[in-house]
Amino acid sequence: VREPDLVGRHVVVSAGGTREPLDPVRFLGNRSSGKQGYALARAAAARGARVTLVAANTGLPAPAGVDVVQVGTAVQMREAVLKAAADADAVVMAAAVADFRPAAYATGKIKKKDGQDPEPVTLIRNPDILAEIAADRARPGQVIVGFAAETDDVLANGRSKLERKGCDLLVVNEVGERKTFGSEENEAVVLGTDGSETPVPHGPKEALAETVWDLVADRLT
Ligand code: PMT
Repeated sequence: VREPDLVGRHVVVSAGGTREPLDPVRFLGNRSSGKQGYALARAAAARGARVTLVAANTGLPAPAGVDVVQVGTAVQMREAVLKAAADADAVVMAAAVADFRPAAYATGKIKKKDGQDPEPVTLIRNPDILAEIAADRARPGQVIVGFAAETDDVLANGRSKLERKGCDLLVVNEVGERKTFGSEENEAVVLGTDGSETPVPHGPKEALAETVWDLVADRLT
């Protein structure tokens, strides 16, 4: 059990994967289960923080003592994160947010037509929530943490993503069809803008969550 070092702090955590609808029955989505974000929310609450968890399509039960805001799409997640971040000491974006969404939404189910090729799907950019909250901090000293889901060149991609997104810490984890997404374990390196690299060996998602809050707590005091 950790010190209650987040007492009096408000932290925001995002979890899960956004779903970008094509029509009333279909969406573009990803494999995030929300487990890593929920572990972060539980750990922060256990350390005394007031926690707002912005959850997208997880189906997980609300952790005790955590304020959960349910969202579906990236645009909805942006709205909920911006609102909760207004008075937050720290924001941790563990959600897998779709970079693109279908340009058009069909109000009726898209039907296949005999002998015809399917219509191509045109995508447009979603807002980058992490880059936005990092560039325009709601409070001085607010600590912003991103996650990077990478499949190759994990560390090099992580460093350039940390710079691009403008956050203070970036948790780089490797993902794949059966890696990290949905599992109980994770393995990561946490990169800091100060050049620090904190490796977190393969273990329960709770352990990575504690390391993230250790690093956040250091930067808050
Ligand atoms: O949910 P689990 O099954 O437990 O799996 C955990 C996880 C793999 C989803 C998690 O550990 C993780 O890596 N989350 C981030 C996934 C992701 O979207 O990474 P990214 O490299 O595409 O995005 C980088 C960062 O920018 C993330 O903090 C993301 O929340 C944020 N982002 C991305 C796109 C966007 N439009 N807005 C954002 O804010």
